[in-house]
This record gives sequence, C-alpha cells and structure tokens, in this order.
Amino acid sequence: MQSADLVLVKSNPLDVPRIVKLSAASYRKQLHNIWWGAGCKTCLVAPDPIGSETLGKRYAASGDAALITAELEALGSDYQANGYTTIAQADELGHLLSLSKGQILLDIGSGCGWPGLYLAARHGCAVVSVDPVDEGLDVARRRAIADKLAERSLTIRADGAALPIRPGSVDAIVHSDVLC
Ligand SMILES: C[S@@+](CC[C@H](N)C(=O)[O-])C[C@H]1O[C@@H](n2cnc3c(N)ncnc32)[C@H](O)[C@@H]1O
Repeated sequence: MQSADLVLVKSNPLDVPRIVKLSAASYRKQLHNIWWGAGCKTCLVAPDPIGSETLGKRYAASGDAALITAELEALGSDYQANGYTTIAQADELGHLLSLSKGQILLDIGSGCGWPGLYLAARHGCAVVSVDPVDEGLDVARRRAIADKLAERSLTIRADGAALPIRPGSVDAIVHSDVLC
C-alpha cells in the first residue's frame, strides 16, 4: 500500500498489525480534523460578519427625535444616517457624478437611504438602494414615499459583493461609509 510516494505496508502477512494500527490512527486523525474544523468555524468565523442584528436594532430605533437632532447638527442631514458623510460631502458627490434626471444611481450599503435618496431628490435621478439589513431598507422605503420618490426608488436586500444587477445598468454608484 502506497500513499504520497511512501510505501506504508508491503504484501507481507507480518504487516497486518501495522495496517490495523495505521487504519486506527487515520480514523482518529479524521475525527480530530472534523472536531477541530467544526470548532474553528464556530469560534473563529463570525456567523454574521457585518453585525446585521445590531445594525437592524439601530436602524429600527433611528427615528428617535434626539438622534435626528444630533444628525442634523453633526451632518446636516435627517435621513437616519449611520455614517460620517456630511450634507456638504453628499453635495460634492452629486456634483462630481454629474447626476441628472433620467439617470440611475446605485447606493451600495445605503442603510436608511443616505446619501442615495437625498441625491435622487436633489438631482432628479432614480436610486437603487442596496443593503443586507432589512430594517434600514424599511426606513429608506418609508422616506422615499414621504418624499414622493417612490416611483424613482427601489430597495434591494443584497450583498454589495454579489449584486443582483446586470453590469452597465446604472449610471453612477455611491457607497458612503461602507468599507469601514
Ligand atoms: C456605516 S453604515 C452606512 C450606511 C449609510 N450609507 C449611511 O451613511 O448612513 C454601513 C452600511 O453598509 C452595509 N453593509 C455592510 N456590508 C455590506 C455589504 N457587503 N454589501 C452591502 N452593504 C453592506 C451595512 O448593512 C450598513 O447599513
């Protein structure tokens, strides 16, 4: 019997105890690998790498009046933002992207719709807001309705690394405070 160019046992009856010992050892090793692998997956690989549950709770509570006052003071926006992008920076993005009516803007990691919904309202474009957290997208949908943007706004629950969108189907992309 040969493995990786090593002769493990020969065709010799005296080698039978050796093959039995070898089989028992490889069985023990397989069990060891299974438990070790399972342990590593459970302890080291976070089942929810972006903390969706925590983010979901934060978005669900982000309509609190005190939080919106703080956001207005810090960023100048009232979109229940969860990042650091100020209204001046959002305006700069809109300017740099030359957004206009008829275009489609993709906002990856939109959270509650900041800054995509704001840019759509300001420049007349349509916006597709993508985020893996439902609670943020719910807020974005409600904001789009309140701002009469529902016909120009779409929310998609997805991972920005696996977008369910055909290449070339949007005119511009923003992602604010997503790769943090
Ligand atoms: C710091 S928040 C910023 C949200 C929003 N852009 C803002 O400025 O308020 C980051 C957002 O990125 C989203 N996110 C994290 N990983 C993502 C991924 N792989 N694809 C898309 N969105 C992601 C999170 O769910 C979260 O809503």
